[in-house]
Amino acid sequence: TGYITLDRGFKNTGSTSSSITFLDGEKGILRYRGYSIEDLAENASFLEVSYLLIYGELPDKTALESYKKEITYHTLIHEDIKNIIDGFPSNSHPMGVLCSLVSSLTAFYPESLDPNRSANEVDQTVKRLIAKMPTMAAWAYKNKVGHRANYPDNSLDYCSNFLKMMFAVPSEEYEVDPVIANALDKLLILHADHEQNCSTATVRVVGSSHASLYASISAGISALWGPLHGGANQAVIEMLEAIQADGGDVQKYMAKAKDKDDPFRLMGFGHRVYKNFDPRAKIIKKAADEVLAKLGIDDPILEIAKGLEEVALNDEYFIERKLYPNVDFYSGIIYRAIGIPTSMFTVMFALGRLPGWIAQWKEMRLQNEPIGRPRQVYTGEVKREFKTIEER
Ligand code: CMC
Repeated sequence: TGYITLDRGFKNTGSTSSSITFLDGEKGILRYRGYSIEDLAENASFLEVSYLLIYGELPDKTALESYKKEITYHTLIHEDIKNIIDGFPSNSHPMGVLCSLVSSLTAFYPESLDPNRSANEVDQTVKRLIAKMPTMAAWAYKNKVGHRANYPDNSLDYCSNFLKMMFAVPSEEYEVDPVIANALDKLLILHADHEQNCSTATVRVVGSSHASLYASISAGISALWGPLHGGANQAVIEMLEAIQADGGDVQKYMAKAKDKDDPFRLMGFGHRVYKNFDPRAKIIKKAADEVLAKLGIDDPILEIAKGLEEVALNDEYFIERKLYPNVDFYSGIIYRAIGIPTSMFTVMFALGRLPGWIAQWKEMRLQNEPIGRPRQVYTGEVKREFKTIEER
């Protein structure tokens, strides 16, 4: 069986070659298909970025128009999916509902199960998923709050349509605030891909068995949910709220984070790859200031976050271990400011990461990658004699 190298958590193991996302953790550089995250967040729209990730090039005007048209065409979801949502208790976490709904698409589009489909057929599946995720996400939320679901409004752009499905109620006029839609669009761009992170690696491994795109993405959503990964954005706000409720003493929580007997970690700090700063966190911090100013919101949680960051950046323990604020540290503050409830934060991350997952899944199939199947070092009993139940 040969010699096996053990690398728990794959800290030093490359699982694939990829031409999608470049990440330099020492220098804090992140580029999608060669374009810097700063340029894309400043100048592109989320749909343009999704096109870039999935097809490899920024779209020209005609390509973008036809892409938008196709996405818009598929925003509606089957009424039976509503019945599935109705079957969930209203206190269900929307991430659980979302990954179930994405998996359920395999039943509504069984042709997606065929691993030998043409590129055009796969492309249909891809566009359906990008179009339907916001609808499913908003409907999961409506179920949670016990409100009637809103149908997509195809006259609106991707983020505005999502916001309207989330927040419009039949008794009131709802006008999408462009400041809010733009802030959301930027956040989605910053989350769109991040090479072989836990959820993306999951999508690729699941897809490597030739499971369908929907099944693979559903698995990715589950992986993202955990608090060490995408679930950190919810955990950060809950932590900041707890610090606030506890009198705002950031030093007390710093001490907890450093205490090896305490499982508490400073949520939104640290990263497997970034060891100087997370370029996404830099952009988001600035955006949080801008969005709160534009919306005239004074959020005491932002002050606590800044206080915590300052203390952490000057702390020996954090300096030694190169722990810096990551993408999740400030994103929740913007989500809060634009009215997204805390339980939906990780769903927002999933909406943003979707094009990255899709691009990585496609690349994995196009590169004809072998099934993902790591080895192990066995540490159990060598060989034992079977004992009857009376003898045990
Ligand atoms: N608070 C306190 N100590 C920490 C933290 C933290 N947030 N993060 C890492 N450490 C310590 C850890 O205890 C270890 O110390 P020691 O060397 O004394 O044992 C050292 O720093 C290295 O940590 P690690 O857990 O071995 O590093 P990792 O690369 O396996 O984990 C991480 C990376 C992101 C899971 C981790 O930093 C963490 O749990 N952070 C908090 C959760 C979080 O914010 N996650 C979001 C990550 S970014 C976006 C995303 O993936 O969604």
